[in-house]
Amino acid sequence: MSPPPHSSPKTVMLIAGARPNFMKIAPVQKALDRAGHRTVIVHTGQHYDDRMSGSFFRDLDIREPDYDLGVGSASHAVQTARVMEAFEPVLLERRPDWVLVPGDVNSTLACALVCAKLKEETGVRLAHLEAGLRSNDWRMPEEVNRVLTDRCSDLLLIPSRDAEENLEREGIDGGRVVFIGNVMIDTLLNRLPAARELDAAGRMGLSRGQFVVATLHRPSNVDEPSALEVCLRGLGAIARDRPLLLPLHPRTRKQVSAFGLDPLLEPLRVTEPLGYMEMLSLVDASAAVVTDSGGVQEETTALGVPCVTLREQTERPVTVSEGTNRLAPWPLTVDGIIATYADAIARGRVGVGARSPEGWDGRASERVVAALSQ
Ligand code: UD1
Repeated sequence: MSPPPHSSPKTVMLIAGARPNFMKIAPVQKALDRAGHRTVIVHTGQHYDDRMSGSFFRDLDIREPDYDLGVGSASHAVQTARVMEAFEPVLLERRPDWVLVPGDVNSTLACALVCAKLKEETGVRLAHLEAGLRSNDWRMPEEVNRVLTDRCSDLLLIPSRDAEENLEREGIDGGRVVFIGNVMIDTLLNRLPAARELDAAGRMGLSRGQFVVATLHRPSNVDEPSALEVCLRGLGAIARDRPLLLPLHPRTRKQVSAFGLDPLLEPLRVTEPLGYMEMLSLVDASAAVVTDSGGVQEETTALGVPCVTLREQTERPVTVSEGTNRLAPWPLTVDGIIATYADAIARGRVGVGARSPEGWDGRASERVVAALSQ
């Protein structure tokens, strides 16, 4: 497909840093390629384990990155600084029309800052994919990343209408804001038939609708021993009702050992982090999901699977108001987690797309291309 008549082909640099970025850039890269634009993929290397990165490139059929900055893990300041230092020469060399940064991870902000500082020199424009989400909790590193990335961006691509209000409140010019819906759901809808075929649950000896999937990695839940203990005891209590599968994030695995909490994993079915297809297959087949991830709150809504979120607030309120998500009472307690889980199970699953917020239609990446082509 060639670009629309009113626009010339653009060079768009797509930034991918950490696990939740990959399912967002995958459909956008393909839609840009189809529309005849040039894409350059930059992987910052924030996530580098095969299970956190490489497997997603394979599952989502994303081509090899053109640049791998290889920054790896470090403190927030060092990780952000390393991305900035490594990204600057890439931007100066390629001088794309657009840099597209997805989500709210440290790599997102680091690349956004580099673009803002080199805007005059290179003429690059910055687009933030998933702009305008707010938890209003400044203690979250992601909230800092979101607010500052939005402030640096020329084009703010928002996934839900609440984002519009958030940006207006911060004085951001509405002319820079474009509603595009949820690109992650493009990926989900595209991969769901193959994920069902995979039958990851059956292969693990689990029956459809008879088990729970949990994920846990937020600093607020896992970096403090008593918080992590409450979460793990809550999951343990749920596991007395149904088998509970916990694909363990490397950060969480490290903290469980450091705090001597390994015995609390015994009632759970703990696995390594799962690939995209396996995880989608399992979530789709589960009775309910318990999570502190942002993306999983959205995926469960799209799939119609009840979700219990272990967070004080969510920057994705449509998953509660329109979807299948509910927050466990805060501060978290074992009883609060169980009661919210029981409520989720009682309400049960609904069909795929039955609770579909605006723009969760599998065509969000086409709207991204249209916005970048203008
Ligand atoms: C990051 C994002 C978070 C996102 C999450 C998804 C920020 C501030 N946080 O958090 O928003 O929800 O990714 O996973 O950007 N590690 C590995 N292998 C890897 C990557 C990390 O072992 O491939 C370990 C390292 O010990 C590292 C720790 O995990 O120190 C944390 O990784 P980091 O990228 O700093 O943050 P996440 O907790 O993954």
